[in-house]
Amino acid sequence: MIKLENITKTYKNDKLSVEVLKGISLDIEDGEMVAIMGPSGSGKSTLMNIIGCLDVPTSGIYLLSNQEIQKKSSRQLAIIRNRELGFIFQKYNLIPQLTAEENVEMPLIYRGMATRERIKRTREALDRVGLSHRIKHRPAELSGGEQQRVAIARALAAEPRVLLADEPTGNLDTKTGEEIMAVFQELNDQCMTLVLVTHDGDIAQHCKRLIRIQDGIIIGDSKVESRIKARGVLAELNLAKAVVS
Ligand SMILES: Nc1ncnc2c1ncn2[C@@H]1O[C@H](COP(=O)(O)OP(=O)(O)O)[C@@H](O)[C@H]1O
Ligand SMILES: [Mg+2]
Repeated sequence: MIKLENITKTYKNDKLSVEVLKGISLDIEDGEMVAIMGPSGSGKSTLMNIIGCLDVPTSGIYLLSNQEIQKKSSRQLAIIRNRELGFIFQKYNLIPQLTAEENVEMPLIYRGMATRERIKRTREALDRVGLSHRIKHRPAELSGGEQQRVAIARALAAEPRVLLADEPTGNLDTKTGEEIMAVFQELNDQCMTLVLVTHDGDIAQHCKRLIRIQDGIIIGDSKVESRIKARGVLAELNLAKAVVS
């Protein structure tokens, strides 16, 4: 579903020209859970922005669901982003004045979705991340991990084909990061494709495939052997449900 062929990206200003990506070729299939790992400044976010159609490569070919991305207008790209991709960022990017529910609902309002469908999708998405009991809370009333789960629910509500997450655990402590990885693993078990960027080796070990990038080139691409299975909030919630019923 994601196919990159010899992608380069050069940032230019009047004096300087910096080649950040130096020929990246990569295939990611439906249902994969991929970590892109590399040191700070290695080009991870640049690559992620290209995969997310938020930025265009300087050269190379990018096919997303068999569509040649570089041939699309910015309007067409906006539609592709909307339909195919969900984004999760390190800083959650929630709107502080809105409740969890309203944050998740917001992109659906922009889509012009009818109220009933919107509420249904919003509730389902919050349920999938184990936050049904927090829907009326504002971001400031939620922990960092809960805020990130709201952000994941917001991405899920649009029913994307793939979730792209750039350092999704970067602001979280180890235990909370593990909870977020538990949510991602559960979503992947339900067939969601996930690509996440991290500089944290432990986080990467929760994925099925690990791509290493350094100085703008891929230096490793392998299956994760003995993958870590995260024990997170969802498992605990399901356990609690099982005990009650
Ligand atoms: N818009 C930009 N203009 C110029 N240089 C940039 C821009 N964005 C990123 N860079 C440079 O590209 C390199 C890679 O950045 P980035 O992709 O953000 O790395 P990472 O996410 O791996 O830390 C860095 O040296 C950074 O300074
Ligand atoms: Mg980055």
